[in-house]
Amino acid sequence: MDDIFDIFQYSDELAPIREVTNLGLSDLTFQGLLPGGGLKVHEDGGASGCGGKLWPAGELLSKYLLENGLNGKKKIVELGSGTGLVGLAVALKETEVNQNKDLEIWVTDQECLIPLILKNTELNNLSEYVHPIVLNWGEELPEIVKSANIDLVLAADCVYLETAFPLLKRTLLDLAGDGVQILMSYKKRRKADSKFFSAVRKDFEIIEVKNFADYESYLRDGVHLYSLEKR
Ligand SMILES: C[S@@+](CC[C@H](N)C(=O)[O-])C[C@H]1O[C@@H](n2cnc3c(N)ncnc32)[C@H](O)[C@@H]1O
Repeated sequence: MDDIFDIFQYSDELAPIREVTNLGLSDLTFQGLLPGGGLKVHEDGGASGCGGKLWPAGELLSKYLLENGLNGKKKIVELGSGTGLVGLAVALKETEVNQNKDLEIWVTDQECLIPLILKNTELNNLSEYVHPIVLNWGEELPEIVKSANIDLVLAADCVYLETAFPLLKRTLLDLAGDGVQILMSYKKRRKADSKFFSAVRKDFEIIEVKNFADYESYLRDGVHLYSLEKR
């Protein structure tokens, strides 16, 4: 099972990035970027919604953060976390390799995904640093997030549902502020997806991030990474 699904150990030539559907447990090392046996991620194959499996944009954002670090960011909220992949990968590397014990990550999604994120948090013994909580886009931010002095917002593959675009924009505006960095990875599937970025351009400067090892390879698959800064 592991050697079939540990896609992140392979080189890009051998394993082009693809939309993975898997059920059960995978051990992900991200080509040795994660310590020990890597991250354990349980997927439900999508039973609890599209967030219940792994997506290439989540892989990209995880790899980028594992390669480039957090630049001193310590209080992080991840939107639409799905399995929790990105936040958990970052927490594992930062707390075990970089001894960044001040780190706190609120790994958020809709109610139906929280049991899966909790399970994955416990599987990796990261409950001290990773807090799975409900955060519905467009609704008032949870009190704990409001008071946490968030300095990094992560969102992997959250731009895919046109009806949710205004909700996601509202949440990004609520979280944005001085010293808050927003990193969004995104897979372009439909023409309509780019409407989201047109809609937020008035409020945010959008910078495409290109300075990472597999940029060209992800680009070929329509997977991008953007940094958003509030105007
Ligand atoms: C394509 S999945 C990406 C999951 C994960 N970030 C990854 O890259 O593997 C999109 C995620 O956004 C979440 N989502 C969609 N609409 C949402 C909303 N209105 N509020 C909060 N989360 C939402 C879904 O539940 C799902 O987990």
